[in-house]
Amino acid sequence: MSKISMIHHINIQITHRQRTREWYEKVLGAEFLDRGPALNRRQLQLRIGTGEIHTSDTDDVIKVSRIHFAIEVEDFDQMLAHLDAVDVPYSRSAGGSFTGTGGDDPLQGTREDTGERYTYISDPDDNLIELVYHPRGLESSAGSAIGLTQDTENVRWTQIPGFVESAYAESKVTTA
Ligand SMILES: [Fe+2]
Repeated sequence: MSKISMIHHINIQITHRQRTREWYEKVLGAEFLDRGPALNRRQLQLRIGTGEIHTSDTDDVIKVSRIHFAIEVEDFDQMLAHLDAVDVPYSRSAGGSFTGTGGDDPLQGTREDTGERYTYISDPDDNLIELVYHPRGLESSAGSAIGLTQDTENVRWTQIPGFVESAYAESKVTTA
């Protein structure tokens, strides 16, 4: 078995690609990943931090209580202020799904083991997203404190050079 290095992407159910793209760009600073016309037709892909979100189109999202994904934010208070500014509600219990832990503040919680701060938001299709911030940071396998990346704008997965340009050139589509 090979060692696993990281989670590459999560795939979420969505009903409206443009609405999803705009929401993730505005609320979480996601970046549209232009894969060329054929791959763009297949699914919407966004980069979010060092990971990716891929999507499955559906007319009817199957909602499963408490299922969510979590993303690490660099500045938790700044993120909460941003959520206020763009009118996205957030809560410690994810609207009553998680109760009894994390303190008394209805808007955010703290976990015992890492001091992690957290809260929950929902995207336009009601996909539940946990926002987390770990004040003690990351450490290497040897226990030394390390940064997540050396690239302040975050790393991204390398595409075949020129792939997107030639995909557009071979098709009649000119933009994403
Ligand atoms: Fe979680």
